[in-house]
Amino acid sequence: MHRLSGKFCVITGAARGIGKAIAKAFIDEGASVLLTDKDAETLAQAGQELGSPTLVLDVEKEADWDHLAELHPTADVVVNNAGITGFEAGLAPHDPENASLEDWRAVHRINLDGTFMGCRYAIRAMKEKGAGSIINISSRSGMVGIPGAAAYASSKAAIRNHSKSVALYCAQLGLNIRCNSIHPAAIMTPMWEPMLGEGEQREAAIAAMVKDTPMQRFGEAEEVAAIAVLLASDEARYITGTEMTIDGGILAGSAAAPGS
Ligand SMILES: NC(=O)c1ccc[n+]([C@@H]2O[C@H](COP(=O)([O-])OP(=O)(O)OC[C@H]3O[C@@H](n4cnc5c(N)ncnc54)[C@H](O)[C@@H]3O)[C@@H](O)[C@H]2O)c1
Repeated sequence: MHRLSGKFCVITGAARGIGKAIAKAFIDEGASVLLTDKDAETLAQAGQELGSPTLVLDVEKEADWDHLAELHPTADVVVNNAGITGFEAGLAPHDPENASLEDWRAVHRINLDGTFMGCRYAIRAMKEKGAGSIINISSRSGMVGIPGAAAYASSKAAIRNHSKSVALYCAQLGLNIRCNSIHPAAIMTPMWEPMLGEGEQREAAIAAMVKDTPMQRFGEAEEVAAIAVLLASDEARYITGTEMTIDGGILAGSAAAPGS
């Protein structure tokens, strides 16, 4: 039996990577999915590939969320997945001493403000039915400090906390609207391209990345999508305000642990 049949789901940043994998998994489970992204061209390709409707939506633009609410005033599942590292246009300093205010704000505008507006849309779109599932894609970087990507880590930590505020707010109102966050570690998606390079350098970069991961590999977008399916489904009806890590075991221990 399909686990998401009859559910209308909105996914942000769904043109590629984790968002697209979640869209595919939701469709496979019988959901009807609206793919959204700010990259119109890649989004159109993904929509065609998955046979789903698309809407260009830039998560940092309030007018785009208003437009979505006009088109789709109700929804059962909203996945706030769109996010940036800040390194998309190339490497730049993102440490606490040298990051520029503009770079700091740009990361927060998309990752945090976008998730805030996505949750706000979701609550309003689910309120009438009194039920729904909001899934926010945070990161392992939202649980620990990342010296070289401080804005990313800060924005993802704030998403973790905001997810709990949303969960409690909805419960206080007596609504069956759940809100949870997913915290992936390194998942092989196009997001990594600017940081991995090519050829031998790429192999070395990948090896260095997974060196301290207990399972010794990158995760796959489909593995994150499997958690999103669970949280979107009615099987998760008593799960709210929680965080699910998917990290090959990284957060289970510490590099400083004795006897490692
Ligand atoms: N890949 C990883 O290792 C990893 C780990 C932890 C968390 N995450 C998080 O998972 C989410 C998806 O990451 P991914 O690896 O698939 O990245 P990706 O770069 O492959 O895909 C991100 C998508 O979001 C879209 N996007 C970017 N800015 C947007 C905006 N303002 N409005 C709408 N869409 C926008 C992009 O066009 C792209 O299609 C992000 O929030 C990311 O921070 C990824």
